[in-house]
Amino acid sequence: MLDGYGRNISYLRISVTDRCNFRCVYCMPPQGREWLDHADILTYEELLRLIKVWNGEGVTKLRLTGGEPLVRKGLVAFIAAVKAQGGIEDISLTTNGSLLPPLAHDLKAAGLGRVNISLDTINPLRFAKLTTCGRLEDTLKGVESAMVAGLSPVKLNVVLTEALTMKDLAFFAELVYNYPIAVRFIEYMPIGGAGESRAPDIATVRKLLDQAGRAMLKPAGPVRGNGPAKYYRFPKAQGAFGFITPISEHFCGVCNRLRLTADGKLRPCLLSDKEIDIKTPLRSGASDRELVALFRAAVAAKPEGHTLCRASGFPDFGRSMSQIGG
Ligand code: 5AD
Ligand code: SF4
Repeated sequence: MLDGYGRNISYLRISVTDRCNFRCVYCMPPQGREWLDHADILTYEELLRLIKVWNGEGVTKLRLTGGEPLVRKGLVAFIAAVKAQGGIEDISLTTNGSLLPPLAHDLKAAGLGRVNISLDTINPLRFAKLTTCGRLEDTLKGVESAMVAGLSPVKLNVVLTEALTMKDLAFFAELVYNYPIAVRFIEYMPIGGAGESRAPDIATVRKLLDQAGRAMLKPAGPVRGNGPAKYYRFPKAQGAFGFITPISEHFCGVCNRLRLTADGKLRPCLLSDKEIDIKTPLRSGASDRELVALFRAAVAAKPEGHTLCRASGFPDFGRSMSQIGG
């Protein structure tokens, strides 16, 4: 389905829950967020119907996000049901990794293709501080379990924060030499109650990586997925580095996605509060045709791009990242 600017919208990010067992400082305000009631969250049956109907409109790729998607019970069976329904070529998951070890194998068997795991620093104390309730050890075990289960390629999401140190970069450089992992650095977006950050900028991180590795990074082709990351490699390394720059270098021109929040709102753009309510019509007997019309309305409402930059500051979005799913 093409939008008004010729972009093919084939990718839906579904936030299956707003709950999380971590409370990362950039994702939620310090006091946390009030969780949605279970009754307000789309059921798996409702999601399956939407996926089926919108698959007819060209949605072929799904990403399951949260909050933390693995805190929602029944996710393995849901993925198997999406697969059984047919039509979806690629299912991926964004997770903090902490709950992966006992589930990774079953997720793979159910039809999950790959995972992105958030890992912002390998310093245990900084990790604990950044995630408020997370343990580095659990996330590292999650990364390992994803690799063992063959959820490939494993991608790591590193949000640029002041927690990042040269030791982290050296660790990541070694990691991409030795494993087919993609480590992606993401510019911090100060939205939804997340405070400002004194994070290093992307250009600085690139320069530091050249120092941390054994050679200079070279531009590389894309790594499998739907993302806007620009990739670089060290010669002979198995993995790659990606840079995701929603603020300093917009990729709105190639944005191929819509987002569905856990409470059933279609969000045409991450950085705009416009939302189209799906849950109310869905629960008051909407026909497939009406659900198609709502999807088309969301596609048509996709803005050409956003105009936010560091200098302009960020508006107070109604939602924090944990309620959108990144
Ligand atoms: N800025 C940039 N990235 C963020 N994420 C969460 N909050 C922010 C933010 N404020 C990332 C997380 C996660 C993904 C879903 O979004 O690292 O990997
Ligand atoms: Fe949870 Fe992920 Fe948000 Fe951290 S970034 S609080 S792990 S949803």
